[in-house]
Amino acid sequence: MKVTKAEIVISAVSKKQYPSDLIPEIALAGRSNVGKSSFINKMINRKSLARTSSKPGKTQTLNFYKINDVFHFVDVPGYGYAKVSKTEREAWGKMLEEYFVERDNLSAAALVVDLRHKPTADDITMYNFLKHYELPIIVIATKLDKIAKNKRESHVQQTRKTLGLAPEDIVVPFSSETGEGKDKAWKAIEQFI
Ligand code: GTP
Ligand code: MG
Repeated sequence: MKVTKAEIVISAVSKKQYPSDLIPEIALAGRSNVGKSSFINKMINRKSLARTSSKPGKTQTLNFYKINDVFHFVDVPGYGYAKVSKTEREAWGKMLEEYFVERDNLSAAALVVDLRHKPTADDITMYNFLKHYELPIIVIATKLDKIAKNKRESHVQQTRKTLGLAPEDIVVPFSSETGEGKDKAWKAIEQFI
């Protein structure tokens, strides 16, 4: 997709704030600091429409970005950040569950994992949660630029195996630094919008 228009619609914390415009939505999911917001920026050719940070916990709300007036990317706060209180973690869980379970126009989830490392227990839990609600899942394995070319395939296999993906499940090796994987990611997303 050639992106000609991208704008923030709203930063929401609860259902009543979600956009009333029921165009398809692609929501990001993944560990804090894995590169969800960076993924959105790279896909839409914008340096910092979605705010990123080298410190985990940057995205705190559900941020709806309207792309070409045809779909929303929904940036989501990450999980697995140790320095949050129990109360905060519960509020986060409630906010995400409400969105992923109840949003009718949610078309697919882009589960972002770090290709350098084995997916974590939280990644596996998130994958199973999304599967349970029968959401199509596109696995984006990011930080590809940090892995030597001859090691990439074994990292992809490790990701597949650890998450327990079916052969037909798509994994897109991706780099927000170099843009590698961008065409494949768009192809995967375009099926759902
Ligand atoms: P939260 O909002 O805290 O959940 O984090 P996030 O998943 O949105 O991560 P964010 O996009 O803010 O990126 C975190 C850090 O990782 C930033 O310093 C990015 O520059 C870096 N980063 C993201 N993607 C890549 C990538 O593909 N390659 C490299 N080398 N760095 C990346
Ligand atoms: Mg973020």
